[in-house]
Amino acid sequence: MSAPDKIAIIGTGLVGGGWAIVFARGGCSVSLWDADPDAAPRALAVIRDRVADLRDAGLVDDPEAILSRIGLAGSLAEALDDALYVQESVLERVDIKAALMTRIDAAIGPGTWVGSSSSGLAASLYTGHVGCRARCLVAHPVNPPYLAPIVELVPAPWTAPETVEGVRALMRRVGQSPVEMTREAEGFILNRLQGVLLMEAWRLVEDGLASVADIDLTVSQGLGLRWAFMGPFETIDLNAPGGIADYAARLGELYRRIAASTTEQRPWSAALIDRVEAERRTVLPADQLADRSAWRDRRMMALVRHKRDRDAAERETR
Ligand SMILES: NC(=O)c1ccc[n+]([C@@H]2O[C@H](COP(=O)([O-])OP(=O)(O)OC[C@H]3O[C@@H](n4cnc5c(N)ncnc54)[C@H](O)[C@@H]3O)[C@@H](O)[C@H]2O)c1
Repeated sequence: MSAPDKIAIIGTGLVGGGWAIVFARGGCSVSLWDADPDAAPRALAVIRDRVADLRDAGLVDDPEAILSRIGLAGSLAEALDDALYVQESVLERVDIKAALMTRIDAAIGPGTWVGSSSSGLAASLYTGHVGCRARCLVAHPVNPPYLAPIVELVPAPWTAPETVEGVRALMRRVGQSPVEMTREAEGFILNRLQGVLLMEAWRLVEDGLASVADIDLTVSQGLGLRWAFMGPFETIDLNAPGGIADYAARLGELYRRIAASTTEQRPWSAALIDRVEAERRTVLPADQLADRSAWRDRRMMALVRHKRDRDAAERETR
């Protein structure tokens, strides 16, 4: 039997720890390293709890096998040695990512790919100076990546097509759902879409048109129910008897008028942030934020389980 693929996770905070679960669950061996010597052991303790949660939710069968594939590296070089793929997950700062890339470049082998978890910074901002730049790209996850499978692959202008292909295949192999951008655009796909919705949500509050609670309810009891299963294009394809073109004919003008009414850029003012913060704190006091996050993760696990079981059942009946 051949040895499992080795994955190096560099930066083991919230996102790096989540990635470790993804790759170990997918059968890879995972090596963790962080510039802060306390961070990787801390991440390992969190990983143990999260894997236990996944077992309780029926999403993994053998937690011990997953945990046995994750190890702490004593140095950056040890983590990178013989790695097929590096998932860089350090702070969202160009200077930090660029300096780390120099060190990664000096240590990796000629076939290693490097993906950055960057939320919005394009890889061209911090990989242009390294010899391995054709093997670098952004691989942006959604938190937590072991529950939300989407990974946005965003090549820099110098990323080789084979790098995108190789990382796409690896992500599929470990159960993620990669999507690709053809070229860099700040915020990538997910945060560009989320950004439009967020900008409009703040605007509706600022203009006194709706409350924070009612805007949240519109998504949790409306738009979001469909979005767990389909995106905006499939949604509108099913919302007119004749599909997309019919929908565009019926409602295109409405959306054009809405777009024309909101072209002005509105920074989120301090007063507006105070208002939204105050409204949120009346329903969720600050000391309950962590509990509510844990509740969200449990609900997401139940939803992921439902989607996984239904997908399997539908595949069988096809
Ligand atoms: N938090 C999210 O929801 C989320 C989602 C998707 C992507 N991201 C992206 O993932 C990356 C990591 O974010 P996070 O939320 O895990 O941050 P975090 O603060 O939880 O963790 C970052 C870790 O990087 C370590 N670090 C800093 N400099 C380092 C270096 N030079 N070498 C090695 N380790 C170093 C820190 O010690 C820390 O443990 C960022 O680019 C972020 O934008 C975050």
